[in-house]
This record gives sequence, C-alpha cells and structure tokens, in this order.
Amino acid sequence: MNERTREHAPSEALAERPPGPDAVSRSGPKAASPMRRAVFRSTAEEGRALLERAPVVHLATTAKGGRPILRAVHGVIDGDVLAFHGAPAGEKLDGLGRQAVIAAHEVVAEIPSWFVDPERACPATTYYVSAQVHGVLEEITAPDVKARVLEGLMAKYQPEGRHVPIRSDDPRYAKAVAGLLVAGVRLDDVVCKAKLGQNGRLEERRRIVTELWRRGGPGDARAVDTLVRRFPELTPAFLERDGLRLAATLDASELDEIAPLLDEAYWLAGVPREAVLAAFLASAAVVTARDARTGALVALARATSDGKVAWIYDVVVRDEHRRAGAGTAVMELLLDHPAVRGARHVRLTTRDAEAFYRRLGFLELSEAPRHPWRSIEMIRAKPTAARVALDDRA
Ligand SMILES: CC(C)(COP(=O)(O)OP(=O)(O)OC[C@H]1O[C@@H](n2cnc3c(N)ncnc32)[C@H](O)[C@@H]1OP(=O)(O)O)[C@@H](O)C(=O)NCCC(=O)NCCS
Repeated sequence: MNERTREHAPSEALAERPPGPDAVSRSGPKAASPMRRAVFRSTAEEGRALLERAPVVHLATTAKGGRPILRAVHGVIDGDVLAFHGAPAGEKLDGLGRQAVIAAHEVVAEIPSWFVDPERACPATTYYVSAQVHGVLEEITAPDVKARVLEGLMAKYQPEGRHVPIRSDDPRYAKAVAGLLVAGVRLDDVVCKAKLGQNGRLEERRRIVTELWRRGGPGDARAVDTLVRRFPELTPAFLERDGLRLAATLDASELDEIAPLLDEAYWLAGVPREAVLAAFLASAAVVTARDARTGALVALARATSDGKVAWIYDVVVRDEHRRAGAGTAVMELLLDHPAVRGARHVRLTTRDAEAFYRRLGFLELSEAPRHPWRSIEMIRAKPTAARVALDDRA
C-alpha cells in the first residue's frame, strides 16, 4: 500500500464486503425527495442500470475548506458500490470521507417548441433520464476488492479481454493495485428521474411521438421506441398492425431472441452468428414485429444506409406467421424509417421472394430507369480479393 496521509478513516466494511445483492432495491425513504413530483421519479433499479452503463459518470464532492470538486470518472458497479479509480494523489483523494454525489444522464430527445406550438417557444424541452447516488465517498482498501473493481473496469471498457485478469497477488499487478486509489459510494440512496413529458396532455404527447418520427434526426427513431415502450398509450398507428407491435430500433438485449430466427436464413449459411448480430447492431435501421398479445418476436428486417442509397437485408418472418402480413408490415415500416425514406435508391437481392417485393414497389434492376450512360455493377467479395492494408504489412 502506498504511503499517504489522509484525514479520514478508510472503510474496512466497504473494502471487504463481498459483492452483495441488488443494493438499490433497499433504497431507503431518502431515495427520492418528497419534494419531487412523483411522476418524474423512476425506480432505483433503473437508476442503477443507468449508472452502470454510463460511459462516464460525474463525481461531485468537496475538498478541505468546503471547496467543491466536480470530476468525470469511469464508474463500475461492484456489489452494491459504485466504484472508480484514480491517482493516489489528487483532488479525488481530498473528498474521501465526505458527502458525495455521482451522477449520469442520457438524453432521449430534444423536443422543439414547434412540435406542439407554432408560435410560442415555451414548450421547447429536453427529454432525459438521469440518476444520482448520494453517500459518503469511501476508499476501498482491501487488495482483493481493489483488484476486483479494476477487473470490473476492464470488463466494462475492454470487453474483448486480451489481458491477464487482474489479481492483487499476481506479481504483474500487485504494485499497481497497491498504488492506485480505488473509492466508491454505496448504492443505498439512488435517485432516478425520467423527464419524458409525462405531465403533458395525452394528445400533445402523441403528437410529439409522431413528430419525432417525422423529423427523423439522429436518435429520433430510438426516442420513439423508448417513449412507446414506457408509455404504451402513446403508440402511434404506424407501430401497430393486425395484432403486431412494431419497433423501429433494436436493443442489444434482443440479440439472443433474433439469432434463432436468422439461423434458418439460407443466405446467411456459413456466416458466423457474431458477424450477423454485429451487422444488426451496426445497421442504420432495424425493424421488428412482435405478437401484440404474447410479445413473441415474429418478424424482422434491417437496412444499411447513408441516406442516399439504402440496402435492405435479412427480411425474415417466423415460419408459422408467414402469409399473414408481418413481412409487409416490417418492410413498410423499414421503407418509412428515417434512415431509408429519403434514399434515392433502395436496393436488395432476393432468390424467390420477388413477388413479395414487387408488391412493395421494387423492380428488377434491368426494368428500373437507367442513367443515360453505360454502367456495370461490380462487387469485391471476400475471400477472393479482399485484403486490408494491415494484412499486407503483416
Ligand atoms: C418472404 C417473407 C419475408 C414474406 O413475409 P410474409 O409475412 O409471409 O409476407 P406477407 O404475408 O406480408 O405477404 C404479402 C404478399 O407477398 C407475396 N408473398 C409473400 N411471401 C412470398 C414469397 N415467399 N414469394 C413470393 N411472394 C410472396 C404474396 O403475394 C403475399 O400476399 P398473399 O399472402 O395474399 O398471397 C417470408 O415469407 C419469409 O420470411 N420467407 C423466408 C425468408 C425469406 O425468403 N426472406 C426474403 C429474403 S430476400
């Protein structure tokens, strides 16, 4: 352990506590101020999840003499503590043993006034979710717990691994573990606030959802899904279809569910599952359809796009739901998706669903209006020709 003088007593309880159960479920009455409007308050679980996934959290505390400190830190949840690390000498050290707040937020959408009022600026607002944990900033001193926090940070920020796991008794790490400051705040008092227009009139809130879809800026399709998932009463007509609930974005948590549907696609044979799922996450637009009653995934489709040219891939309907309109529903929503709707060309290839796509306005390339000049469609396909510059240097 490095030699440092400090005016606080490090918390052994904090340091030696094993990872505990979900601490925020124990959030006490202090977890939300009675002064806050109930409608804005969200669950402590949601706050914890936000603090956990935030790429950066902000730590506010005070130093000697009450001087305020505000720092951005990489946070990770270890048991029921939100922990971070830092240099053994620095301002964060000054805050040890003092009251602190760690906060994170996510902007859901910027809502311009003209969505609801053509004249007055007053309705302009931002929809967001924020979380704060209040408590005493305590140092974590037990070497094995410090190592666990540091390993947790690695897992969060370097999920691909490719390093020897951090252990305090590993000679490669012992000095670093001893020398770093690791500190945290217990997740006993988590406040989460979701400001998503809940106090507005239903009709106005529905209009905002439709306007978000119409505006179609970065993040707007996701904002529509976020709002509709949370407040089903806001679901616009374009996300409902014959017993289906449509969504215009894919969440990483849905990957396990979409994988089996794609396993049967003949055109994906031989493509590793991870590559297929990564392509879904990287797509400009992904549309899903679920059974409105059971929530089961029924259909999906995706597109890549630069706004000018879009390519549609992986249109699949679960076997037992075919010829009931689900394919048409996901395709129509995909064609209206902000990433696709403005494209000058929307392209795809198909082996045997030509009639299905013709009904949606697609033509064979040879039938489509051509440029006045001669052009040849070309492709560079792996593995015959594709080599990246780095391969050549290797
Ligand atoms: C092709 C597919 C996406 C169509 O979805 P779907 O929900 O069954 O289609 P819909 O019910 O919306 O069909 C609307 C119309 O499209 C046409 N159609 C549907 N599937 C078709 C197919 N496989 N071939 C040709 N036309 C088809 C029919 O005219 C149909 O109307 P009808 O049922 O009244 O005759 C679906 O059958 C599927 O997942 N197939 C396997 C995967 C696949 O081939 N995907 C396309 C890859 S390019």
